[in-house]
Amino acid sequence: MPAFTGEEALNYDQRIGKLVPGYALLHQITAAQLRVTLVQDATILVVGAGTGREIIELAEQNQGWHFIAQDVSADMLEIADQNFTNLGIRDRVTIHHGKLPENTFQADATLCLLVMHFVRDNGDKDDLLTQINHNLKSEGKLFLADLMLPESSFEREAQFQLCHTVLGLTEQGVEKMRRNFVEEFYPISLEGLTTLLEKAGFSTPLVYFKALGFSAVNSYKRN
Ligand SMILES: C[S@@+](CC[C@H](N)C(=O)[O-])C[C@H]1O[C@@H](n2cnc3c(N)ncnc32)[C@H](O)[C@@H]1O
Repeated sequence: MPAFTGEEALNYDQRIGKLVPGYALLHQITAAQLRVTLVQDATILVVGAGTGREIIELAEQNQGWHFIAQDVSADMLEIADQNFTNLGIRDRVTIHHGKLPENTFQADATLCLLVMHFVRDNGDKDDLLTQINHNLKSEGKLFLADLMLPESSFEREAQFQLCHTVLGLTEQGVEKMRRNFVEEFYPISLEGLTTLLEKAGFSTPLVYFKALGFSAVNSYKRN
């Protein structure tokens, strides 16, 4: 996994839009679905909250929502903390640094956007999904976005091209991305994700976003 510390954390917000086609749209359409499904005083757990993008987007939608921002990177959370303070929403956010604790939160919804592709598929993805499940209320919603295995022989190459020619990633940046996708990401197929989610106690996922290699699904906690 990239470190998400120091400079990498500081320039994350400028970098991410060049790496993920439709990054802003992904956040907007995730927020739109929460707006029409959650109650006024909902608690939203954001796993891998990074610099706080999800919460910044969602806090505007409903003044009554409370958030838990969880991440394993202290540097990313420090930036998120400052962003929340600047926007006057800090009192609506509980910041949790470190691994997701067992059975601690009773969230109405969980977001896990652009995180699980960094988790190895050796039982660690199962563990993360199980922890998420145990921190959700019954029928609580999960919105998850990840880099997936390519669905055609040309999808990945098209993704690199688009990042360079449309999103403004440098050639060096593209080369680094090629390496990172092999060395630091653990993408799985939609079928694989479906199996993991069902095993962890979630419903069959529905795809709500796809932009070349990145897909997002929603699902809910069964029982
Ligand atoms: C690409 S960023 C995504 C941040 C944010 N969700 C967004 O959409 O901008 C990935 C974040 O996931 C965090 N992360 C990686 N593995 C994690 C894990 N197992 N649990 C929680 N956070 C994790 C990283 O520290 C980083 O902040």
